[in-house]
Amino acid sequence: MLKRTAKCGELRKNDAGKSVVLNGWVNRRRNLGGLIFIDLRDRYGITQIVFDPDKNKSVLNEAKKLSYEDVIAVRGTIRTRPGETINKDMITGEIELLVNELELLNKSATLPFMVADRNSALEDHRLKYRYLELRTKELQKTLAIRNKTAQAVRQYYSENEFMEIETPVLMKSTPEGARDFIVPSRIHKGKFYALPQSPQTYKQLLMIGGFDKYFQIVKCFRDEDLRADRQPEFTQIDVEMSFVDESDILKATEEMLTHVFKTVIDVELPNPIPRMTYAEAMARFGSDKPDLRFGYEIHSINDIAGKTDFKVFQSVIETSGAVAGICVPDNGFFSRKQIDILTKEAQKYGAKGLAYVKVTEDGLDKGIAKFLTNVEKELIEEFNAKAGDILFFVADSMKNTYPVLGSVRLIVARTLNLIPQNIFKPVWITDFPLFDWNEDEKRFIAVHHPFTAVTKKDLELLETDPGKANSRAYDIVINGYEIGGGSIRIHDSKMQIKMFEALGIDDQTAKDKFGFLLEALSYGTPPHGGIALGLDRLVMLLAGVNNIRDVIAFPKTTSAASLMDGSPSDVSEEQLKELNIELIEKD
Ligand code: AMO
Ligand code: AMP
Repeated sequence: MLKRTAKCGELRKNDAGKSVVLNGWVNRRRNLGGLIFIDLRDRYGITQIVFDPDKNKSVLNEAKKLSYEDVIAVRGTIRTRPGETINKDMITGEIELLVNELELLNKSATLPFMVADRNSALEDHRLKYRYLELRTKELQKTLAIRNKTAQAVRQYYSENEFMEIETPVLMKSTPEGARDFIVPSRIHKGKFYALPQSPQTYKQLLMIGGFDKYFQIVKCFRDEDLRADRQPEFTQIDVEMSFVDESDILKATEEMLTHVFKTVIDVELPNPIPRMTYAEAMARFGSDKPDLRFGYEIHSINDIAGKTDFKVFQSVIETSGAVAGICVPDNGFFSRKQIDILTKEAQKYGAKGLAYVKVTEDGLDKGIAKFLTNVEKELIEEFNAKAGDILFFVADSMKNTYPVLGSVRLIVARTLNLIPQNIFKPVWITDFPLFDWNEDEKRFIAVHHPFTAVTKKDLELLETDPGKANSRAYDIVINGYEIGGGSIRIHDSKMQIKMFEALGIDDQTAKDKFGFLLEALSYGTPPHGGIALGLDRLVMLLAGVNNIRDVIAFPKTTSAASLMDGSPSDVSEEQLKELNIELIEKD
């Protein structure tokens, strides 16, 4: 085989005259005036190669047989292109390779879609031929960014005394909130391992084991409903530290993120990263992952709404609910039809309705304007509204009003293109509630996880009014994505038992599930805490893509299937028998 002496992205004007061998794929072929031009592609770029009948007729005849994605080796001489044929859009556009020897390394079958044009095929089709899609410039780029990100992460932690330690993939199930993937044991018939939803318990045990600064880039598995930013197997940047409080974890994480953004995309993150309490984030943005790239914040208007005689507002205020609104530019966009579409969207997020008024030079108009005449001035002042704006209102329980308006804020900003691109607005969300009440199960659920410590001043609330207690958890949010979350942990076994009790986990279950952890906590446990960041989500931001599948080499579909290899798939009767498993029914 003709082995390459240069790569397709590196040749320039001053290489003219050199004889080189290139290896790569046929990206494009054109016949022009008896000549054949091919764009030859490898991971590093594209070089134009030329077959000239006057120079070498037999090689040209061979080249005639070439088609898209054939793999070839060519030897030839670099020459500069005449002025008018220089391609300024290509970094190698000033040169071309005049071929005098061609070797076909592998002929490609007819392609299921064009590699040069990723959008020529639907996603399912591309996923089936993922190895071809991986050749597209989009995925070559995102995976290069992923690699660079992982390297920068490792560099930061390694240079700061963190040790990367691997933790088991076959483990005992830990409750992180999602459903476990389970793996049957052949040796221990009827018993199962779980795949880690995260290495949470192991990293705490590593702290007990004396490794006071741990990190790991690690695969996690969660059987949950998938979305644009969720995969059943995803990667965490997992971190744990001993003898620390919140400020240490936040500082180390900020330093790591600053290093990553600088190294990978040359962006300076704000230093320090701003902080916001959960309560403030909910009140201003209706979300615990606020997108701070744009304003249009939520305003509570209970006082003003109370003065109107709009029945919807009245009845909500009487039942201690919340009336709130946002103000966005309208400029004629929001026709009845658009408002109906938005209302339907809001209803998907639990809205009972979406009231609106338009702001004109003369005051308020349309929608519920007729109910607001006595508060017109006050409302306009509250929102600092201008003619051409539109106000949207939601009246509902405290629990619903803000999240619904938060969703409306996002939908409107996306629809009206109000979100600036290419900027990064990170924020720490702190002071989360410790528990969330689960009405179906009639018990509290840990908002973060059951190993999270309660805020010191709320210790008593754990017994008197657990729903009101805050936790020592924090999330890092960038541009509306939850990039990571962590907490200071409980490092005392008695306290951990109390926590399980508050969660309605009885003694026996606690012992069965976490006996090993409870025991470990009793043998001298350092105060500790940590965080885990979603590597996939971080790479999505760095690469500027909004589909998590674009940053994973071999992703699953939203129904958790791999279209390429057809997993999940049937297994043989033999395998099932070995595991003592009998299928009740097959769908
Ligand atoms: P948590 O469950 O918040 O915390 O997960 C941490 C981060 O992992 C990412 N993430 C996901 N990314 C893609 N697909 C998913 N299905 C998915 N689920 C989570 C998110 C999230 O912020 N053990 C704790 C961390 C700790 O307390 O230290 C944990 O796993 O970016
Ligand atoms: P109705 O009086 O039910 O016809 O509602 C008048 C307007 O108020 C409509 O635009 C509804 O979408 C809106 N609306 C109804 N319920 C609510 C609510 N809970 N919050 C905000 N707007 C509402």
